[in-house]
Amino acid sequence: MAYSAGGGSDAGKRGKNQAHGHSGRRPSRRRSVRNAPFSGVAVVTGASSGLGREIVRLLPPECPVVLTGRNAVALEAVAVERNETSAATSGGARIGAGVASTAPAVVVAGDLADRDTVERLLAAADRLGGASLLVNAAGSGAFGAIVDTPVEQTLDANRANVLAFTAVTARFAARMRDAGCGVICTIASVAALFPGPLMAGYYAAKAYQFSYAVALDRELAGSGVRSIVVCPGPFRSSFHDRAGLDAATLYSAGAVPTAARIARFTLRAIERRRAIAVPGAILPVVLRFQALVPRRLMARIVHRLQSRRPPSLEA
Ligand SMILES: NC(=O)c1ccc[n+]([C@@H]2O[C@H](COP(=O)([O-])OP(=O)(O)OC[C@H]3O[C@@H](n4cnc5c(N)ncnc54)[C@H](OP(=O)(O)O)[C@@H]3O)[C@@H](O)[C@H]2O)c1
Repeated sequence: MAYSAGGGSDAGKRGKNQAHGHSGRRPSRRRSVRNAPFSGVAVVTGASSGLGREIVRLLPPECPVVLTGRNAVALEAVAVERNETSAATSGGARIGAGVASTAPAVVVAGDLADRDTVERLLAAADRLGGASLLVNAAGSGAFGAIVDTPVEQTLDANRANVLAFTAVTARFAARMRDAGCGVICTIASVAALFPGPLMAGYYAAKAYQFSYAVALDRELAGSGVRSIVVCPGPFRSSFHDRAGLDAATLYSAGAVPTAARIARFTLRAIERRRAIAVPGAILPVVLRFQALVPRRLMARIVHRLQSRRPPSLEA
């Protein structure tokens, strides 16, 4: 049940039961995430595409994974790919149609806004020995002015972004607290820090996730469990198309990182247990100073950016 990511400085201060990696020393910055000493069960929401799928691909082959999302076919494809990788790497015995017996990748397909999906997710993780890592990567949004967007669209998105996120996080956090170890990694966004005209419901939901994740980390201090939050800017995925954003414009506008790159950043943040992790060179500076800008002015800036080139600050 131990989740034994190599401990960064935060890890060293936290939790009597929290593993520190094999040597107990701070991990080398150059160490590949593939070599990070994860050993526990990982649960990844939003594993059918984009960032969640890339995180599943990067987790060490010996790490059992529970994948969830609504698209069962896409999830199965990711699971098969992973099971084949695990078998090839571990030399584990194969059962059934090429499925490794060592580190299984298990699919739980369903809408996370349904309580039943959350219960099935918990049960699947329990059957594997209990989750040591939860990655909250599921999310969606809709582009458009509040008064011009069907409210059901925003409500549907935020059932996943807020209600499902809350249920999954709280339920797994309680189990990890009882076990005395674990990491919950929430993929929020830079949007968490700004009011977001033309994508208001999504920005507000990301602010909720950010606040909830940071508060959870405080509540769990000393328990051996960490709640960390990652705040990426725009990256390449199907998110923009689904949200009705002009992805082509975004991608041609400058250096937009791939989901794989953000996944590598996320795995390093988990390994080092960084409380709040922001990728890139500019975004961390923006986030540091954004609090000095009045909110109404910030809303005006975001509105202008999103009107000109919709996804300029966020997906
Ligand atoms: N792309 C960006 O520019 C960007 C920037 C900052 C933050 N983010 C955040 O990063 C996370 C991953 O996004 P992505 O860019 O990788 O987008 P993506 O490719 O569209 O992936 C979103 C994932 O969420 C799942 N999902 C959505 N609603 C769900 C629901 N109700 N129940 C279960 N699963 C649901 C989808 O699975 P199914 O389709 O199978 O249901 C999919 O696997 C999201 O939280 C997003 O807000 C994205």
